[in-house]
Amino acid sequence: MALSRRDFITKSSALGALTTLPSWNQVEQERTISIENIEYAAKKIEHLSPEEAAKDEDFWFTIQKAFIQSPHFINLENGYCSPQPVEVMNALFKNINMMNEMPSFYMRRKQSEDREEVKKQLAKLAGVSTEEIMITRNTTEALETVILGLQTLKEGDEAIMTNQDYGSMLEAFYMRARRYGSKNKVISLPLHPKSSKEIVDCYEKAVTPKTKVMLVTHMINITGQILPIREISEMAHSKGIEIISDSAHAFAHLDFKIPDLGCDYLGTSLHKWLCTPLGAGLLYIKKENIKKVWGLYSETGFPDDDIRKFERIGTHPCWTYLTISNAIRFHNAIGIKRKEARLRYLKNYWAEKLQNVPKIILNMPMEAERSCGLGNVGIAGKTPAQIADYLYDKHKIFTVAIDMDAVKGIRVTPHLYTTLEELDLFVKAMEELARS
Ligand SMILES: Cc1ncc(COP(=O)(O)O)c(C=O)c1O
Repeated sequence: MALSRRDFITKSSALGALTTLPSWNQVEQERTISIENIEYAAKKIEHLSPEEAAKDEDFWFTIQKAFIQSPHFINLENGYCSPQPVEVMNALFKNINMMNEMPSFYMRRKQSEDREEVKKQLAKLAGVSTEEIMITRNTTEALETVILGLQTLKEGDEAIMTNQDYGSMLEAFYMRARRYGSKNKVISLPLHPKSSKEIVDCYEKAVTPKTKVMLVTHMINITGQILPIREISEMAHSKGIEIISDSAHAFAHLDFKIPDLGCDYLGTSLHKWLCTPLGAGLLYIKKENIKKVWGLYSETGFPDDDIRKFERIGTHPCWTYLTISNAIRFHNAIGIKRKEARLRYLKNYWAEKLQNVPKIILNMPMEAERSCGLGNVGIAGKTPAQIADYLYDKHKIFTVAIDMDAVKGIRVTPHLYTTLEELDLFVKAMEELARS
C-alpha cells in the first residue's frame, strides 16, 4: 500500500520503526499545489488575524502540500537553507531550459533587463529603491562586500560585533583587521535580555571615540534571538557610527521593511526564508553610503554612488535570480504577517511544551518581539552533539548541535511545512532524553 509522507512518519514513529525506510518510489508523493490554490486558501481566512490564522491547520495543510519533503526524516533544521516550494522549483527548471536554448543570446540581450525587473520586485518587497539594492549570491557575498570595502573604517578605527554573530562576518572583520589595521571589539550579549535597553547598552558600553561601525545580527542564527536593531541604530547614529545589519534570517521571516531598521547596510540570503533556489541574496546600501564602499569586484564604468558598480560579477547562473520572482509570488500569496505568526506559533508550540520539563534549558527569549521561528534548547548533563545524535539516530529527527561558549544546545528550526504531529514527536523524544 502506498504511504503518504504524513502517514509514513506517524506510522513509523508509532511503531518505533524509522530505521526501515522506504525508497522514494515506495512513498506516494502528495500532490503539490499551485500558488493560485494558496491565494484561494488565503482568501478564505482573510477575516482571521495573523495569530488566529497561525492556528488554522486547514490553511497550513495547504501550504505543507506546496513542498515536497524527504520521507526519510523529520527536518527541524531549516535554518541553513530552505527547500523551494514545488511551484518555485518548476519555475527554476523552466528558466534553466529557456536559458539553455540561448545561453549567450540571453546573457548579451536579455539578462540586464530581466535582472532590473527582479530587482524592482525585490525592492518593493524590501520597501526600498532599486538604486539601493543588488542581487547577490548570499548574505556572505553581500556583507563581505561592505565589511571589506568600507572606506570609512581606517587603520586604528574600531568595529563592534558580538560573539554570537555569524562566523563568516566575524572572519571578514578579522581579515580586514589583518589587512588594513582596523580593530575589532567582540562583546557578549545575554541570552535572556530583560529589555531592549539591556541589549542597546551592551553595544553602547563598547563605543569609544574610534568606533566607526557596528555589525548587528538582526536574528541571531544560533538561538533565534531578535535584536532591537532600530534602537541600536538610533544610539549608534547619535554617535556618528554606522550599522551593518546581518538580516540573513530576518528577511521574509519577520514583517519589516528595511527603512524601519534605520540601518546603513544590510545583507540577507533569499534561499533561507524567501524559499528561492540556492544562491540568491540581497545587498542593501543606503543611497548616500554607496560611494563609501569599494566593490569586491572591479568596475569603474559607473559613478561611485551607483549600486551597479558592484554588479560586474562575471558569468553566473541567471536562472536562480530569475526565479526569485516566483518565490516572491509564493511568499506574498501566504502573506508575511501570517508567515511570521505561523513560524512563531510553531516555535512556541514545542518550546512551551518543553519549558517546564526538568533538565530542559531554553536558550532563547520567549517574548514575541525577541524570537520567532528559530529556537535553541539544551539538556543539563548532555552535550549538544549527544542530543542531536540521539534525535537523529533514534527518532530520525534532524536538528543541528550548537556547541559554542555563548550557547550550548541544539537549534530547532521548523518550517511552514512542519506539522504539529512532527513537533509532538520531537517533544516526546526530548522528554525521553531529559529523563534518561
Ligand atoms: C546570521 C547569518 N549570517 C550570515 C549567514 C550566511 O549565509 P549564506 O551562507 O547564505 O551566505 C548565515 C547562514 O546561516 C547566518 O545565519
